[in-house]
Formats: sequence, structure tokens, C-alpha cells
Amino acid sequence: MGLKIAVGGKGGVGKTTITSLLARLMAKHDQTKSVIAIDADPVSNLAAGLGIPEDKPITPIAELSDLIAERTGAKPGTMGGFFTLNPKVDDIPERFSLERDGVKLLVMGTVQRGGSGCICPESTVLKALMLHLVLVRDEIVLMDMEAGVEHLGRATSASVDALLIVVNPGARSRVAANHIKKLGTDLGIKRLLVIGNRIKSPEDEQLIRTSLPDFEFLGFIPEMSEVFEADKKGVRPFDEDISDVPQAVKDIVDALLALKK
Ligand SMILES: Nc1ncnc2c1ncn2[C@@H]1O[C@H](COP(=O)(O)OP(=O)(O)O)[C@@H](O)[C@H]1O
Ligand SMILES: [Mg+2]
Repeated sequence: MGLKIAVGGKGGVGKTTITSLLARLMAKHDQTKSVIAIDADPVSNLAAGLGIPEDKPITPIAELSDLIAERTGAKPGTMGGFFTLNPKVDDIPERFSLERDGVKLLVMGTVQRGGSGCICPESTVLKALMLHLVLVRDEIVLMDMEAGVEHLGRATSASVDALLIVVNPGARSRVAANHIKKLGTDLGIKRLLVIGNRIKSPEDEQLIRTSLPDFEFLGFIPEMSEVFEADKKGVRPFDEDISDVPQAVKDIVDALLALKK
């Protein structure tokens, strides 16, 4: 079975950057298997990190009204009435993803929610799709989540191999990490692993280690000037060769792949 990883953390800590680096490295590592990267954060732009050109805009799944209507038997935006709660979704990853370098990108989009318990056609399709991706697919699936990972339903969470909690040096990350740990534990996720990101000194790493005594650490990623330089040039980081990433990132990939061995 494939490896299923969710990436969470406060806004701006580096979730999208890390998700795209891990996805590209994993696709390169095992070229027989494709990697599916899921953009599940409304304010994320995973396409840029993967180097998927923005002149080919990708329509989020939640906005594919005709498809949603066809699969559920109900018009998006409606509530109540009758529609199927287990729509067909298994062809969606192939039909609605964009691929580069062995990484398929799927953009989930946002569901306009009418109250927390909303059961609407859009969220029914998204939930079914997430569940299909983590439960049935044999690929490596990486999910770039919104800050709180609340979108991960309970059924889906149970099949996620690990939730990576990204933190930066600083006290506010600690609060966020504790919050996500509680959410992840409540959702029944098997493993919670912390990645320290934007580490500029050994003190930064030590600060994170001592402020999160009850966490398991997956690795520490340094501040990378390449990320900023690439952004200025309008290309993805490590555009030429993903193997140029810092060793810490490669070690994280190895540790994640080992979870399934
Ligand atoms: N290790 C790093 N080194 C340098 N810049 C980084 C690093 N990680 C993230 N960044 C920068 O921080 C900002 C936020 O990163 P992003 O991945 O978009 O965060 P998130 O997805 O958690 O909101 C971006 O400008 C990104 O380029
Ligand atoms: Mg993001």
C-alpha cells in the first residue's frame, strides 16, 4: 500500500514549500510509482512549488459543478433533498490533476459551509475523494493541509500514516503544534511527527526541541536561500535539480519511506 502523509502547521511556517520538496524528491526516488500531491489549503499555491505553470489554471474539484451534480445527483450549493453519499470518485485523480516530474497535483478548493455539520454535494465529493486517495490508492499521497487540519475527516485520518507538524523557531509555533497535536490525536491519526523549519542555528533547533518535549521529531530543515532566490526568479525552488536540496530534506524522505517498510 502507498504512503499517506498529511502536512499541517500554522500559516506561513512552510507547509507548501515542504510538501512540494518532499513530493518531488519522492517521485524521483521511486520513478515506478507516481506521487499525488493534494492542495487542501484554500490559501495555498502548491502548483508554484511543483513548477506547474500558472497559465494552465487548474480548477479546484469543489468548483467542478457539473461533475459534482453528475456524481451526487444534486446541484452544488443546495442542501437537504436527496443525493448519494458515496459518489464515484475513482477517475477524478487522473482526469483532474496536472502532472510534472512524476507528481500529480490535485486542488481540492473550498466548500462554502453552512454550519459545521453541513452535508452538501461539494463536501460529499471532496470527502469521498480524500477517503479514496488515502484508503484505496497505491501511490504516495501528500496532503498540504490548511492550518488546523480540520478538513481531514475521521474516516480519512484513520488511514493516514503520519501527520507532519511543521513549526518554526518561536513560541507561537509551539501553541500551534500543541493545538494540531490535539486535533490529530482526536482524529485518530497514528503518528504525529514534527519538522522544524527555517532553522538558522543550533540554538533554533534546541529551542524547538525543548519547547516541544512531548513530540517526536522527524527532522530540521535549514533556512534555504534558494527558496527566496527561486521566488524572485519566478521558478520553483531547486528547479534544475531537486537533488540539490539540503541533506536534512533527503533524510526526512528516507525516514518517511521507511514508515512503510
Ligand atoms: N526553509 C525555508 N527557507 C527559506 N524560506 C522558507 C523556508 N520554508 C518556507 N519559506 C518561505 O516562507 C514563506 C511561507 O512558506 P509556505 O510554504 O508558503 O508556508 P505555508 O504553506 O505553511 O503557509 C514562503 O515565502 C516560503 O518561501
Ligand atoms: Mg501553504
